[in-house]
Amino acid sequence: MEKIIDENIQGQALSLDKKEGNTRKLFIESYGCQMNFSDSEIVASILAKEGFNTTQNLEDADLVLVNTCSIREKAELTVRKRLEKYNAVKRINPGMKVGVLGCMAERLKSKFLEEEKIVDLVVGPDAYKDLPNLIEEVDAGRNAVNVILSKEETYGDISPVRLQSNGVSAFVSITRGCDNMCTFCVVPFTRGRERSRDPQSIIEEIDDLVAKNFKEITLLGQNVDSYLWYGGGLKKDFEKASDFQKATAVNFAKLLDMVAEKHPKIRLRFTTSNPQDMTMDVIEVMAKHKNICKYIHLPIQSGSDRILKEMNRLHTRQEYFDLIDNIKRLIPDCAISQDIITGFPTETEEDHKDTLSLMEYVKYEYGFMFAYSERPGTLAARKLEDDIPEEVKKRRLAEIIELQRAHSEYRHQAFIGKTVEILIEKASKKSDAHWSGRTTQNTVAVFPKGDYKVGDFVMVRVDECTSATLIGEAVGYSDNN
Ligand code: SAH
Ligand code: F3S
Repeated sequence: MEKIIDENIQGQALSLDKKEGNTRKLFIESYGCQMNFSDSEIVASILAKEGFNTTQNLEDADLVLVNTCSIREKAELTVRKRLEKYNAVKRINPGMKVGVLGCMAERLKSKFLEEEKIVDLVVGPDAYKDLPNLIEEVDAGRNAVNVILSKEETYGDISPVRLQSNGVSAFVSITRGCDNMCTFCVVPFTRGRERSRDPQSIIEEIDDLVAKNFKEITLLGQNVDSYLWYGGGLKKDFEKASDFQKATAVNFAKLLDMVAEKHPKIRLRFTTSNPQDMTMDVIEVMAKHKNICKYIHLPIQSGSDRILKEMNRLHTRQEYFDLIDNIKRLIPDCAISQDIITGFPTETEEDHKDTLSLMEYVKYEYGFMFAYSERPGTLAARKLEDDIPEEVKKRRLAEIIELQRAHSEYRHQAFIGKTVEILIEKASKKSDAHWSGRTTQNTVAVFPKGDYKVGDFVMVRVDECTSATLIGEAVGYSDNN
């Protein structure tokens, strides 16, 4: 998901301002997609009411929670490694309890307790409101598990504690789960059926963020274009809704339009879009509002029609091109990024070449590329042999990464000499004398700090670039401040 900090396998320990009277210490870290980072904020909010303040010091913790990712085997191995570290700390601090949250918890359920003796608590993505009861069990010396997936839970009524925030950009979840059943993907099994959150609660959360001076909101979901609110319930049950519910339903284009209209100075982003669910009305709403960022993360996975079909991606290569053409026609400066998997079962050299030629057509701004990793329980794992040798997967991956690097550079070079609006987010990683922010196209830009501050919208003249970053000089405030 946005991009996806997906394989940003760096876990991040989160901490929040101390709440008076809280005495227990929670260490919480997240791996995987932005939805996990966002869920950890919900968990911190639930536990703040149970007497927990967060700490960034693992050694001090009474309770350690790790929010996990199952998307590829490597993501799971990273979490297993972390558990070893917790084990070492527990030797010094034997009272410390350890809980596993998120997709690995859902996938492995109580098996986790058998496989990893360090774990006291296993909680799936829809069961976080049960944490107070589960922690009581753990306090009484028993292990506790809740991995029930819900048809309703959207955590719409919980106001997340903004952890580790730069105070400028925030994520707001709008849907949970996914009904798409791509054959390689574990998400439908770990996050359950797709349901949408009440637009009223989404808008209240955004109003609150705007009141707190946030400048950029990213709407989050596994498949945001599929958003549909008709009074509650699963997306797949919409057919059974009443005429009134159907007539008053809010789809993604309408939600986007409502939020953009209400907060014209706030930058709006969303992720992730599945090509088969992205409709013209969403593109039209994007074109209509200046504050909706001109950037779409639009995973393709493969350029071969045969492989797309095997993956149960419900569109063809040509339909994807048509979508790209429509986007570029209505929003000529729109940036597009991709996810691609190499070495899906049965992928031939010809299929791989189709992926390369598709990339040539689109020339993505950037991308997230992965070698296929078989996930237990998925349709691909059950029906197809993981038959592409690891070295072939890796070689194809290297080829698409190299092509993407060239395309990123090509796209970034087009910015040179132009003046673009940047929202300042933080100091540059490489130099404390420079600010770092992003263009509407989501491209990172760095420039000397001057008198500007975090949260300012600044016009920056781009003088040079690398394949990842624009480098320039601020020439004044944008009229968006
Ligand atoms: N719709 C989700 C997709 C999550 S998975 C979203 O919000 O982004 C992110 C990406 O991981 C997918 O687009 C796909 O490219 C990759 N991925 C998923 N399952 C995979 C697997 N089994 N092996 C390799 N890559 C995978
Ligand atoms: Fe996974 Fe496909 Fe949904 S990639 S999250 S099943 S859109």
